[in-house]
Amino acid sequence: MGSGSMNQPAGHSRSAIAVPTVSETASVDTGTKGESGTGSTRTPYLCGDSMTGGYGSGADILRDCTVAVEKGEIAVIVGPNGAGKSTAMKGLFGMLNLRKGTVWLDGEDITSLSPQARVAKGMAFVPQTSNIFTTMTVEENLEMGAFLRHEGMEQTMEQVYSLFPVLRDRRRQKAGELSGGQRQQVALGRALMTEPQVLMLDEATAGVSPIVMDELFARIVEIAATGISVLMVEQNAKQALAIADLGYVLVQGRNRFTDTGEALLANPDVRSSFLGG
Ligand SMILES: Nc1ncnc2c1ncn2[C@@H]1O[C@H](COP(=O)(O)OP(=O)(O)O)[C@@H](O)[C@H]1O
Ligand SMILES: [Mg+2]
Repeated sequence: MGSGSMNQPAGHSRSAIAVPTVSETASVDTGTKGESGTGSTRTPYLCGDSMTGGYGSGADILRDCTVAVEKGEIAVIVGPNGAGKSTAMKGLFGMLNLRKGTVWLDGEDITSLSPQARVAKGMAFVPQTSNIFTTMTVEENLEMGAFLRHEGMEQTMEQVYSLFPVLRDRRRQKAGELSGGQRQQVALGRALMTEPQVLMLDEATAGVSPIVMDELFARIVEIAATGISVLMVEQNAKQALAIADLGYVLVQGRNRFTDTGEALLANPDVRSSFLGG
């Protein structure tokens, strides 16, 4: 949301990341090494580069996994259950000890920063579960999102309420009393209260009706158009890839396909194996 309103598009261009010419890849060129071939060296705004690691001393879940998102773009991670999508998000957010790999934010190596320090640097993460305080009101949830802020909370809250008008109507209600779609709006709104530069969403449309899903995706497109980078994991893969600048198919902790959302949707192998035909 930056300092302006949520209605100022920031050049929502497609395919700004160098994507591999061969879509099925073992290693992925995200442009981090300045090999874009167009003469410009673009660095993705957020990039988990070649992440390898797992939980505690257990086996590696992520294996040389790379995911990235450009400024103001939407990147979508899809793949089967257990593929490591949520684990990749945790890796990016500093909730996993990576054995190998680097996390870059705006050109800075943030691999060793705590999640809190990453929030202070402009990252917001809406995890897959337990992403709201159910016993608090909607407005208290939004206030919690702004706990790191010193000023301007009211203005940001206004922006969240104009993005999600139903939250204004329900602001005195306990978040736990809301519908699934409304709870996801609370979680998203709470993340936006930190005025992030990058918004990470793990299955934000899980369990909502198709109409509510379309509505959420439309709001996510608006958010990206203000210049915020959006990286999301989605089970509603076709619909999510339809709004994605870049899509990643992860399988067993590895990159399987990386391409524009459009190209992945058109790829017969991706369709038959991962998008239900
Ligand atoms: N907290 C955890 N501790 C140990 N293993 C985990 C934990 N969370 C997930 N896993 C394992 O990591 C693998 C990938 O899980 P996850 O990242 O949640 O997949 P996805 O989000 O793609 O469904 C699975 O084998 C899962 O059992
Ligand atoms: Mg998951």
